[in-house]
Amino acid sequence: MEKEPIFILAIESSCDDTSAAVLCNKKKLSNVVATQKIHEEYGGVVPELASRAHQQNIVPVVHQALSKANIDKKQLSAIAFTRGPGLMGSLLVGTSFAKSLAIGLNIPLIEVNHMQAHILAHFIEEESMTAPTFPFLALTISGGHTQIVLVRDYFDMEILGETLDDAVGEAFDKSAKILGLPYPGGPLVDKYAQLGNPKTFQFTKPRVDGLNFSFSGLKTGILYFIQKEVKKNPDFVAENINDICASIQYTIIQILMDKLKKAVKDTGVKRIAIGGGVSANSGIRKALKEAEHLHGWITFIPKFEYCTDNAAMIGIVGYLKYKEAHFTKQDVTAKARYVIGS
Ligand code: KG4
Ligand code: ZN
Repeated sequence: MEKEPIFILAIESSCDDTSAAVLCNKKKLSNVVATQKIHEEYGGVVPELASRAHQQNIVPVVHQALSKANIDKKQLSAIAFTRGPGLMGSLLVGTSFAKSLAIGLNIPLIEVNHMQAHILAHFIEEESMTAPTFPFLALTISGGHTQIVLVRDYFDMEILGETLDDAVGEAFDKSAKILGLPYPGGPLVDKYAQLGNPKTFQFTKPRVDGLNFSFSGLKTGILYFIQKEVKKNPDFVAENINDICASIQYTIIQILMDKLKKAVKDTGVKRIAIGGGVSANSGIRKALKEAEHLHGWITFIPKFEYCTDNAAMIGIVGYLKYKEAHFTKQDVTAKARYVIGS
């Protein structure tokens, strides 16, 4: 006999994207994301404005996710939501909304760790995606995090290394800001980098022990370099934007790849899955594909839709937890700092 399908409504509001998704088992039925444009004029996410925008967006976004999935809320099996890590004011909106809706519908509530979701997004069932087998190494690269995680099972994860200061997405965004590019600058650096020569300018790579990362020194190095060059030629940035972006991107990718190589050597695990907004970067995608030929790695790169913040990745974790009846009590609160596995 066919088992009853499980419908999960998932809500993500950890930073500046309000998102809601509906999953039927491991398949996505809808994944609606409202990106907040308001932060562009401030050159970065303003937490108070993000929180207010989530409050405005959450009802229409959830409504749209349900109607696109063609699901009535009475059919839902459970509500999954991002408990953390993230901005407190942003997390509170999704958390409160999920709790209220779960009470109203009298269905289970399931908390999800945002970073775990970036990793488990690979398990959404879709034609163009293959799920990695365990164990694998996950490189989570976003605007808030940079981690190398050893994934032994869905909920057995160990952080092998992480950034000691800025996240890799911040390294992209802050470099872009130095070049006068609008926020978020990561995608623009990527765009210009594709037209430039990555060997034109050399930036010093940080020396950090083990599998940890550091990006703040690189940012300062770029700032001093640009200031020095602009003194000599005020049009330096405009005249060299492609080569500057290509050189910055090349350095960042080298830093990531060096650590990945070390992680593979330390663990003997050659399956690499990436997640987080920076996985959209064309350079890192290319470097990983090359590593398949050069080092015999098997790499897993999610669909673009599942790279940046989205609720479908929260939904897949919700489904996996639902199967284990791993539910969350109503007294749960948002958790701005929330380590994987804690
Ligand atoms: O995962 P995400 O959407 O949000 C966080 O959880 O932080 O990641 C956003 C980050 C931003 O820093 C953005 O500049 C960066 O991902 N990003 C990129 C690219 N697309 C997004 N960085 C480099 N190249 C890209 N193509
Ligand atoms: Zn994220």
